[in-house]
Amino acid sequence: MTDLSQLQAGLLSRIEAAQDIAALEAVRVEALGKSGSISEMLKGLGKMSPDERREQGPKINGLRDAVATAIADKKAALEAAELDAKLAAERVDLTLPPSPERRGRVHPTMQVMDEMIAVFADMGFALAEGPDIEDDFHNFTALNFPPKHPAREMHDTFWLREDQTGERKLLRTHTSPVQVRVMRQGNEKLPAWIANGQEPPIRVIVPGRVYRSDSDATHTPMFHQLEGLVIDRNIHMGHLKWTLDAFTRRFFETDAVVTRFRPHHFPFTEPSCEMDVQCDRSGGSVKIGQGSDWLEILGGGMVHPNVLRNCGLDPDEWQGFAFGLGVDRLGMLKYGMPDLRDMFGSDVRWLEHWGFSAFQAPNPATGLS
Ligand code: DAH
Repeated sequence: MTDLSQLQAGLLSRIEAAQDIAALEAVRVEALGKSGSISEMLKGLGKMSPDERREQGPKINGLRDAVATAIADKKAALEAAELDAKLAAERVDLTLPPSPERRGRVHPTMQVMDEMIAVFADMGFALAEGPDIEDDFHNFTALNFPPKHPAREMHDTFWLREDQTGERKLLRTHTSPVQVRVMRQGNEKLPAWIANGQEPPIRVIVPGRVYRSDSDATHTPMFHQLEGLVIDRNIHMGHLKWTLDAFTRRFFETDAVVTRFRPHHFPFTEPSCEMDVQCDRSGGSVKIGQGSDWLEILGGGMVHPNVLRNCGLDPDEWQGFAFGLGVDRLGMLKYGMPDLRDMFGSDVRWLEHWGFSAFQAPNPATGLS
C-alpha cells in the first residue's frame, strides 16, 4: 500500500468511527485544516518538478476529494441521527391527561356593569365617562350643593392635597358630576373620552368608580355606580318610573319584580326619590319578586332647575330625570354575594367562585343569561 492510500484508509476509518460532530470536526481540521496533513501535501505540489506534479497532483487531489466527501456524508448522517434523537425525546404524548389550567374570571362587578349597560343600551342610552379625580365644582357646586352645606360632609369625601393654584381636588363621591360634564360639554374643553357631550335631547348612562371614606359589610371606600341622565322637553316622573321599572325587570330577568318609590332628598333633584325592590330575605338568600322585605337600590328624581341653569340649559325649555344605581349592590342582590368587602379583597378563591366566564357576554336579546 502506498503512503497515500494508507493515509486515506486511516482517515476514512476515523471518519466512519466519529461519534459526534466534534470528533468529526477534529479529523477534518487534522486532514484538511490550514496545516492539515492533506493541505500540507497540496502545498508541496508547488515545489515538485512538472513530471512529479503531473503524477502526484491527481492522487493528492483525489485523496482530498475522497476525504471531504466522506466528512460531508458523515456529517449529514450525524445530524440526521441527532434530529431523530431529539424528536424521539420531545415527542408529545397525546394520551396524557392535560395539566390543570388556570383561567381568568370576569369580576362580578364588571359582569353586572356589562349587563346593566346592555339593558340601557337597548333602551337607547349612550355611554359617557368622566374622571375619577374631580373638582369641587363638578362634584358639588354645579349639582346645587350649597357652600358649607352638611351634605358635602355626608359624602365622606377623600380630598387631595392643594395644588399650586390652591385648589383641592377630590376623588369623586358619585357619578353625578358626569351629568354636569355631559350637559356643559359645549362650554368646556374636555378630551373626547371624558364625556360625549351633546345638546339636548340627552340620554346617557355613566358607569364608573366612586370613593367615600367608609368601610363596613355594606360599604367600601371604593365602589361602583351607574348614573343615568335624560334631558328633553316635557319629561316627567312617569318617564323615570317606567324606565327604572323596565330596567329592573330586564336586569333581574323576571316580570315578577315589584318596585316602590319613596320620597327622598338630593340637592340635585326636585322632587327626589329612592327606589326599593321587593324581596324575600328569609332563609339566607335573597329572592326577588316575593316576600315582605324591601331593598333600596337607587336614588333618582327630576333634575333640579338650578343644576340645569348651572349647565347652561333653560329649565323652562328643558326638563329631565336622573338616577344613580349602586352596581356592586345590585350584583350582590342578583348573584347572592354576602359581603361587599369581599368584592374588592382580590382573593383569587373568591373570584374563582363568584367570577364569570370571559366568554359569557351579556346578551340583552336572550335575557342576559
Ligand atoms: N349621586 C347620588 C348618590 O351617590 C345618587 C343619585 C341620586 C344620583 C339621585 C342621581 C339622582 O342622579 O338623581 O347617592
